[in-house]
This record gives sequence, structure tokens and C-alpha cells, in this order.
Amino acid sequence: LPVLSVASELYPLVKTGGLADVAGALPVALAAEGVAMRSLLPGYPRVLAALQGARPVLELGWMFGGPARLLAAEAHGLDLLVLDAPHLYDRPGTPYAGPDGDWADNPQRFAALAQAAARLGFGELPGFQPAVVHAHDWQAGLAPAYLHYWAGGRRRPGTVMTVHNLAFQGQCDVSLLAELGLPPEALSIHGVEYYQSIGFLKAGLKLADRITTVSPSYAAEIRTEAGGMGLAGLLRDRAGAMAGILNGIDTAVWNPADDPALAAAFSAATLDARAANRAALRAALGLADDPRAPVLGIVSRLSWQKGMDAVLAALPTLLSLGMRLAVLGAGDRDLEAGFRAAAEAHPGQVGLFLGYDEALAHRIQAGCDALLVPSRFEPCGLTQLCALRYGALPVVARSGGLADTVVDANEMALAEGWGTGFVFNEASAEALQGALGRVATLWQDQDAWRRLQRNAMGSDVSWTRPARHYAALYRDVAQG
Ligand code: ADP
Ligand code: GLC
Repeated sequence: LPVLSVASELYPLVKTGGLADVAGALPVALAAEGVAMRSLLPGYPRVLAALQGARPVLELGWMFGGPARLLAAEAHGLDLLVLDAPHLYDRPGTPYAGPDGDWADNPQRFAALAQAAARLGFGELPGFQPAVVHAHDWQAGLAPAYLHYWAGGRRRPGTVMTVHNLAFQGQCDVSLLAELGLPPEALSIHGVEYYQSIGFLKAGLKLADRITTVSPSYAAEIRTEAGGMGLAGLLRDRAGAMAGILNGIDTAVWNPADDPALAAAFSAATLDARAANRAALRAALGLADDPRAPVLGIVSRLSWQKGMDAVLAALPTLLSLGMRLAVLGAGDRDLEAGFRAAAEAHPGQVGLFLGYDEALAHRIQAGCDALLVPSRFEPCGLTQLCALRYGALPVVARSGGLADTVVDANEMALAEGWGTGFVFNEASAEALQGALGRVATLWQDQDAWRRLQRNAMGSDVSWTRPARHYAALYRDVAQG
């Protein structure tokens, strides 16, 4: 079954978050399900540099002020189509922002991506007729809209819109309607109109045949006023077309038995070998040795969503329990400053690397005893899945995908030998402190801790099960 995936990031070529991980891993997992996925992404400088052998396959003509074409390439087991439009994408910085913040023409930059997807959907590339176009997040949100409004009686492929994070919706002024290639009738509550603007994600959610998000709990949360971020009503209306499909992680990239970043390989059967990774992590971040309390890890964007302010507020409790903290993250200036101050005030107890470092992320997962993920909301979350796989017990807020993937080691569970981590009620300092108390208590019983580690490492965090769900969904909409 030929499927076109459209996303603004794709691991390992370009990544700012979990979206890239998903876009990069899902196609490989889907191959085993008989789905032939091609992935469309923008030709940012780092993408073009990584794909030197890419060949031009389709001239797209003039798009938003400059020439555009599609390049094809195979890399990392992925079948790639790259939208080469230097006037839109040949810029420094992240996919979304330059030195002065978000690019002012992001609406045009990502409308171009969606237009390219729609034209592929209508079969413009000889030899490639996708049965389904799968759009990820707001950057691809207009793809279902173009496929809807441009069809003009033609058959179009089925469309799937996936929300990875409802907090990012992509909006622009209604005056851009014609420039974006949308007909006047699209400017309606039944189309792309969203609170007197054009809503990219809204358009996709309204006009795609099916909606998915990345966990069952988040699928329910975003239909409530508290979690719906302005879209709850629309999502409730479309509940019948909606599904929550958990993410997996790439278990080849995240494999403690064969990970070049680690000081020592280990598995559930050789947990003792984990100690070398703990020692290496302590050395790397200057943490003191104290076997009486666990080392906690954080690998995260430093943002309000991730509850990082609650970590800073709970820090005195954490330190009074003798725990140490290893932090890898980047993000909001206030939070960066807060963690910097904490590391300066508590040398040997708080180790910090501000920035993005893939290898260090692996070393923290392998070397810390427990990973903190106190998110206020978390559509799925990937770091707790990595933690499970690496035997770092996740300590998570009961939210979205965190609630769906970590089994709380409460008293009953412990009595039965169940549980894979610690789940607390909300991203507040008080709730986190309560969870830290439970962590400290369980640490005193190293046999029980070991059992939880083995349970965690036995959790299936691969893409096998989710890929089956996506394949079934594609078959459904393809027959549409
Ligand atoms: P989100 O996409 O909301 O940031 P996820 O948990 O879904 O959260 O995905 C985050 C991904 O980015 C994971 O693969 C994680 O390991 C990685 N990551 C986050 N921060 C860093 C960092 N500072 N350095 C390296 N990797 C990071
Ligand atoms: C978003 C969400 C995160 C999710 C990721 C991949 O970035 O914040 O929870 O894991 O997308 O779906």
C-alpha cells in the first residue's frame, strides 16, 4: 500500500523533538506491514547536505516567489522526497526560526510543503500514486485541505491528520487566503477558518478523513475544554473519526545491548554492567558518588509543558533525600537560568548540560537510576519509553502518553511484582515531592528496584504494535 507521509522534521536528518523520531521510525516499521511509505520533507540546508546524491524527479514550477522542485533519495532505510525551494528553506537556524525568531513567512513555507504533498496525492509524480496522504502536525495541516478543495471531481487519496502537540497550531491572517491557493469558500467554520484567522492544524483536523493523536489518553484529554486548546468542540464532533495510537521508539537506535554511546553494554540479564554507565555519567557531569540514593535524570525541552519549573521547586526535597540530578536540556531562558543557578549552588549534586546532545541523552538513560518526566501535558512522550528500555525507572505525571506507558509501582503492584515506574497525579512540586519520597523508599529495597528495572526493560516499546494500528487505519481510509 503506497502512503505519503508529510512532516517538517525527520530523524536523523533534522530534529527538534519527538515528531522527527516518529517520522523517521514509522516508515521502517510499516514496511513489515506491507505499507510502502515515502516521506516528504523540506529541503533545509542540513537535509540537502546529508543527501548529496539526491536526484531531481519533478519540477513544481513557481511556489511563493521562487522555483521549486522535488528531489528523491534513499537514506537510513527511508524513501525520501525533498522539497527543494531555496528561497523558502535555505536559511540558518531551526526549521522554524532564525536568529530573530520565527520566520515571518512560515505560513508560505509550510503551505508550500502541503501543496507539494497534495500534488503528489493527485499523482503528479509519474509512477507514484499514494493511496493515503498522512500529514503530521500544523506544518502539514493544509495538505488535507488542498486535497479536499483542489480535487474538483477527481479521485483523491485518503487523508490522515496526526496531532503530536495541540499547543502548536499554525495560524495566519485571512488576507493570505488567495495567496495560499485556497478558494473563498474555504474561509468558513467548515473549512480553514479558525477564530478569524486561517488555522493550519484546524484545517487538517476538520478536513482529513481520519484524525490520530499519539496516545489514547491524549485523544481523550484534547476533547475536554481543559485540554482542547480551542479545538475541543471540533474534536468532539469528530470523535468517531479519531484514534489514539501510542508511539514507539526505534529499538535499534535505542538498544542498551549495542549502543556506541555507552561505557558498557547491558541487558535485563546483565544489569550489574549498568554500574559502569552510572559511573561514567557521574564523571561526565561531576556528580558525587553516594550509593545510598539514586541519580535522577532529565532529558527534555526546558519548557512549561514539561513541568520543569516543578523540578526546580522540588529541588530542596530531592537534595535532602540525598539524590543527585543529571540534566540535559535546552529551551526557555528562565528555566535555563534556573537550572544553571541550581548547578552552581549545588556542585556534585546537580550536573547540567544546557544544549542538545544526542550521545549524552543515551548516556543519561543508561546511567541514571530514574528519569523525571513531570509534564503538565504530554501527547505521548518518548523519553520515558527510552528510560523503560534502558532500565531507568520513569517518574512521570499522570498525563497523556505518560499515563498510558508507565505502570505505577503502587503497593498492590509491588506485592505482585508488577510496575515499571512511578506515576504521580499532576505536575506540581508537591506531587513530585511525594513521588520522590516513594522513589527514595523503594531504593532501600534493591531487590524490588531490580525487579522493576527488569519489568521496565521487558515493556514492548517498539514500533511493532503501533505500526499494525497505522497499517489497519491506512487500509481503512484507502478504501474510503
Ligand atoms: P517533545 O517532542 O515534546 O520534545 P518527546 O519526548 O516526544 O518530547 O521527544 C523528545 C526527543 O528529543 C527524544 O528523542 C529525546 O531524547 C530528545 N531530546 C530532548 N531534549 C534533548 C537534548 N537536550 N539533547 C538531546 N536529545 C534531546
Ligand atoms: C510532540 C509531543 C510528544 C510526542 C512527540 C511525538 O513533540 O510533545 O509528547 O511524543 O510529539 O509524537
